[in-house]
Amino acid sequence: MAAPTTPGTGSSIVTITMNPALDVTTDVDLVVHTDKMRCSPARYDPGGGGINVAAIAHGLGASVSAVFPAGGPIGERVAALVADAGVLVHQVAIAGSTRESLTVNERSTGRQYRFVLPGPTLSADEQSDCLALLRSAAAGADFIVASGSLPPGVPPDFYQRVADICSESGARLVLDTSGAGLHHITSGVFLLKPSVRELRECVGRALLSESDQLDAAHELMARDCAEVVVVSLGGDGALLATADADYRFPAVPVPISSGVGAGDSMVAGITVGLSRGWPLDEAVRLGIAAGAAMLMTPGTMPCTRDNIEGLFAVAPKPVDVAAVTF
Ligand SMILES: Nc1ncnc2c1ncn2[C@@H]1O[C@H](COP(=O)(O)OP(=O)(O)OP(=O)(O)O)[C@@H](O)[C@H]1O
Ligand SMILES: [Mg+2]
Repeated sequence: MAAPTTPGTGSSIVTITMNPALDVTTDVDLVVHTDKMRCSPARYDPGGGGINVAAIAHGLGASVSAVFPAGGPIGERVAALVADAGVLVHQVAIAGSTRESLTVNERSTGRQYRFVLPGPTLSADEQSDCLALLRSAAAGADFIVASGSLPPGVPPDFYQRVADICSESGARLVLDTSGAGLHHITSGVFLLKPSVRELRECVGRALLSESDQLDAAHELMARDCAEVVVVSLGGDGALLATADADYRFPAVPVPISSGVGAGDSMVAGITVGLSRGWPLDEAVRLGIAAGAAMLMTPGTMPCTRDNIEGLFAVAPKPVDVAAVTF
């Protein structure tokens, strides 16, 4: 795909993250109550769905910018870490303080404890500033990725407003959200990436079989929630539902260090594939490889291009579902 020429960003992929976080990761022998637990030195990563996607997409060689609200010293730290990762930062300064998220790895059991704070309340003006910054960054971008939770104060139809901006600018929207954010989408999304858990919650059914999962994906497409839907199935890979055909993508088996961020990494891989002008099925296969690569890195540490490309080389080709399920 041709390099973008917009003077505003020069980025072919723009992500938006309404509730970023400073991800703090540490280790302790055993998690206990009351007593102090002496932890190993912390690792600090910028976090929040769109920011994670931006870092991995940049690692894959895409030109990426990230729009996000940030405030207080933690917000400044997040913005600096995103910039250090090579991503162009479009920060909306806010009155509240950006949140921290704490992940504690318990060495004796291999368990992981994740403490996630709600994030600051965003005023109506701050939300408008985010949308205005997105509008200018989106001009000339090929893809917008909206990912992650909405913080307090942001209405559940916020992502529909993001979709409207994409429709105006001609950029294609990749959306990864759950719950109310998903329920309020009525138009303008190119690709939706629910996990099967999120899809189940969205349609209110158990979705035990593959055909149930594909029916639910097509139901969302019929409601104009998205043009195509990628249902991620954890260790079982993913399904791709399109208007013409449905595909099953086996997972790439990998040794798992941490399950954190597989979905974000998958979205990054898919979007980078699309931004290279690849067919949808190859882009999803890059997403499968990127999701698996993220499982091999500890905690919130991003996976590398070499990891992803190594797994992409061995990721199985998808199967056309109609061709095997008479
Ligand atoms: N155990 C695993 N082995 C190999 N690949 C995996 C595994 N878990 C996840 N993946 C890859 O990462 C992709 C995304 O993972 P998953 O379906 O768990 O999404 P998620 O967005 O992280 O989930 P959720 O949002 O519900 O926490 C999967 O489609 C798969 O390709
Ligand atoms: Mg997810």
